[in-house]
Amino acid sequence: MNVVAGSASLGLGEKVARELDLEFIKPHVERFPDGEIYVRIDGDVDEEVVLVQTTYPNEKIIELFLLQDALREMGVRKIITVIPYFGYSRQDKLFQPGEAISARAMVHHISLNSDYFIGIDLHSEELLKWFRVPVMHLHATEPIAEWLKAKGVNMVISPDKGGYERARLVAQKMGVEFDYLEKTRLSGTEVIIKPKNLDAEGKIVGIVDDIISTGGTIARAAEQLREQGASRIYAVCTHGLFIGRALENMKKVNDFAATDTIESGNSKITVASVVARAIREIA
Ligand code: R5P
Repeated sequence: MNVVAGSASLGLGEKVARELDLEFIKPHVERFPDGEIYVRIDGDVDEEVVLVQTTYPNEKIIELFLLQDALREMGVRKIITVIPYFGYSRQDKLFQPGEAISARAMVHHISLNSDYFIGIDLHSEELLKWFRVPVMHLHATEPIAEWLKAKGVNMVISPDKGGYERARLVAQKMGVEFDYLEKTRLSGTEVIIKPKNLDAEGKIVGIVDDIISTGGTIARAAEQLREQGASRIYAVCTHGLFIGRALENMKKVNDFAATDTIESGNSKITVASVVARAIREIA
């Protein structure tokens, strides 16, 4: 078995290979003058390959499909597709007639050349039902809990009710208390968080979310927590998109981190051990 990673997930792919003591293969990826992508995998590959590629931003999706095709062409029998951050997962139902169910469209295309699918902290498990191959849904609970623990966090908060279970699992791993806030989204960039009486006085609080996009959610949650007397506030997410004013919004917290499902200078936590453990189970 080898590990191949697309250009969105080279760091994570290499770490996973190292953890599993497998050969890591970095494909050759180029652009044609018109912007089209060209991929080539040099050398031999084994019959089973772990292919790691985040499907964000858009061009990384095309690169994934090309890499899958190249692997099949090379005779790979089992492609385990690992998508650390599943772009387009948020549109998983119709909100208005005439829309695409983008997450389903992605699943159908990814499935064409996958024999196993692994996702991490998917926005919703809904999309798993569209796969026709075995799937595994992993969570970054352990590495996130370790990061918060090193910061001395003694209370975990989810910024909305939907993330309650995630916060509960992280808090349970750390052996600390947890709670959630009530968030209402006004637009793509604006959210309000209702005041709530929390027992945050003097606490070192960790806000845990699946995604930090514009950072509005974290900023509003941090304001609430300061009002409730939190002494220090940390923010952590699995998927750090950090769009627009996100880094400005992060000034509301003492420190923040994301995992390497989306690789950037802010991915201070790795999910490599979580992915490696899953591959060991499958292999
Ligand atoms: C929403 O349901 C997600 O869990 C995140 O809270 C959201 O995507 C964060 O977005 P933003 O950083 O733009 O507030």
